[in-house]
Amino acid sequence: MPGDGSAARNTRARRGLRQGPLEHLSGARVRVQVWATDLWIPATDNLLRIEEAGLSDRVFPIHADARSLPFAEAFFDAVVCVDAYIYFGTDDLYLEYLHRFVRPTGQIGIVVPGFIQELRGPLPEHLKPFWAQECWTWHTVEWWRQLWSRTELVRVLRADSLPDSWRLWHKWKKARQAAGDDSPGLASDIQVLEAEGGQYMGFHRMIAEVVPG
Ligand SMILES: C[S@@+](CC[C@H](N)C(=O)[O-])C[C@H]1O[C@@H](n2cnc3c(N)ncnc32)[C@H](O)[C@@H]1O
Repeated sequence: MPGDGSAARNTRARRGLRQGPLEHLSGARVRVQVWATDLWIPATDNLLRIEEAGLSDRVFPIHADARSLPFAEAFFDAVVCVDAYIYFGTDDLYLEYLHRFVRPTGQIGIVVPGFIQELRGPLPEHLKPFWAQECWTWHTVEWWRQLWSRTELVRVLRADSLPDSWRLWHKWKKARQAAGDDSPGLASDIQVLEAEGGQYMGFHRMIAEVVPG
């Protein structure tokens, strides 16, 4: 685990956004470089995709476990994690670890699959064909908000469920099917999403700002 690092974090705060090529993000022109960190996909495979996209001067693939990151404290202006945070971030202590890599007032943003409403009692029958053990990491958006806000390490700026996220999920699975993906379970996942219609399953998003320590 990194040490205190508050001096380093404050230095990064003064430096502002990391220097890099100009990008359009939400209509604003900002300079961005990305350290694209992933565990299951080798960095060399990801580099090929990055090169195909013409982004190898600004996106750098890193093969690492999110629980053992090879970065300096306060190195990042922001951490963005799409559809992966459930694999490590439900640990009560993980935010305390992650936030050290972000400069004070920098931001952490995640999108996670989760429950739209709390499960009361056992898993509903209609969800069983979709279920895998990793789905036990699903929670409501209020659960996530509480997990982060009680630490007082970050200020939660936004925590909500993506509108109609089950439809996007369904669209993505249908697109995979149309592209010839014959993964086991894909057809039944589509059926479950259709039957379910967003009653329990969806995606949440959360953005928080690191509180200066
Ligand atoms: C469902 S995929 C999502 C991939 C991609 N972010 C997307 O949205 O298409 C989950 C990702 O979580 C990553 N992951 C799971 N456990 C991880 C860990 N301990 N450290 C880093 N990445 C992890 C895997 O490498 C995998 O790429």
